[in-house]
Amino acid sequence: MMKRYAPIFFSCMMAVAVVGYIFGIADGVPVPGGLNEASLAVKDDGASIDTDTKLIPAVSYSEIANTPMGPTKHWQATPQVLPSAEYDLFRKIETSEADKKASGQLRASRRAFNGAPPIIPHPVENTTDAACYACHSGGVQMAGLKASVMSHAFLGNCVQCHAPMAPAPFQDVDAAVATSFVGLPAPTEGKRAYKGAPPTIPHSQWMRENCSACHGGPNGWAGLESTHPWRTNCTQCHAPSASLDQMPESDVVPMLPSLDVVSK
Ligand code: HEC
Ligand code: HEC
Ligand code: HEC
Ligand code: HEC
Repeated sequence: MMKRYAPIFFSCMMAVAVVGYIFGIADGVPVPGGLNEASLAVKDDGASIDTDTKLIPAVSYSEIANTPMGPTKHWQATPQVLPSAEYDLFRKIETSEADKKASGQLRASRRAFNGAPPIIPHPVENTTDAACYACHSGGVQMAGLKASVMSHAFLGNCVQCHAPMAPAPFQDVDAAVATSFVGLPAPTEGKRAYKGAPPTIPHSQWMRENCSACHGGPNGWAGLESTHPWRTNCTQCHAPSASLDQMPESDVVPMLPSLDVVSK
């Protein structure tokens, strides 16, 4: 009895297996997950880089800063223009002696000596020069404070010259070093040939190429403004002070006629 039904039973099982196999492969052969289509980030055409793969193409050191990678690569930094204050170039300017004195005192409090780079009076994080430049290129007013305009051209690595605040654990440490160096006093005004004449520039122009950073504009220093910020070539009328001349202290200048004309 068993011998008769066994071949029929096994034939049915084989038929079911064959039908199942044919229907099964119709959906495609399953592929295990977690495999990349290409083993390298280079696509099959050999040229373009497939950025969707988990592999990060190698870049040179100089390109690292501009190559977005990691989980924040989709956060793109877009340049923002900070709102600038309304400023009328031809508004009548009346400077006050009190403003000038206050500005002079604040400026002096941030410098080791006249002409030294001012310290950074606010905390800085590990930002780039571009961050400093955002506030200090044209200056900005915020929360009653004035970020002054850079008086010199863009120089990389701002903190090599402008000392940032000490980190909190070191703020109580007295790191002052004894020195006998005494800087020259800051000038308060330039000499004039006669009343109403343009005053001479009583300070060096080194690191002060942008005259309107201090003497005009919406973010200049109160009391230091010139009455004519719209004029472009300042040194056309304002001559550097003769006392800043690096000439030997002698009346005789080689190869020049005697200076009788200018002496008193
Ligand atoms: C968010 C805007 C902002 C950024 C960014 C910024 N600053 Fe300032 N900075 C200011 C403000 C506001 C002041 C004035 C603070 C005060 O008067 O107490 C100032 C003051 C200064 C001063 C003193 C200027 C003077 O004439 O006395 C220096 C120097 C300076 N910052 C350098 C830097 C450097 C370097 C960086 C980058 C590491 C930087 N700042 C980033 C807003 C900024
Ligand atoms: C090579 C050194 C050096 C570097 C680098 C430098 N500075 Fe200066 N900076 C100076 C000196 C020196 C002065 C002071 C000029 C003076 O008062 O005679 C100054 C002045 C300033 C002032 C104040 C202007 C004022 O109103 O008195 C600001 C703001 C400033 N720098 C910002 C910057 C920023 C932002 C950077 C980076 C982009 C930078 N500096 C890089 C040397 C430097
Ligand atoms: C970093 C700030 C700063 C910059 C930039 C600067 N000056 Fe001055 N300047 C001063 C200070 C401070 C004084 C002395 C206070 C005063 O006389 O207003 C002064 C004084 C003067 C005076 C004499 C004003 C008077 O009343 O007798 C003249 C003129 C002058 N500067 C011209 C210039 C010219 C031109 C430039 C550009 C080449 C320039 N300054 C750039 C800060 C600056
Ligand atoms: C066409 C000539 C001329 C040019 C250009 C010129 N100035 Fe003057 N400046 C003068 C004269 C003249 C005075 C004296 C004004 C007075 O005593 O009434 C003066 C005075 C000043 C003063 C003293 C404060 C005041 O206004 O009386 C400052 C600061 C000054 N100039 C800065 C500048 C700056 C910065 C520039 C460039 C943006 C500049 N000047 C361009 C002729 C000029």
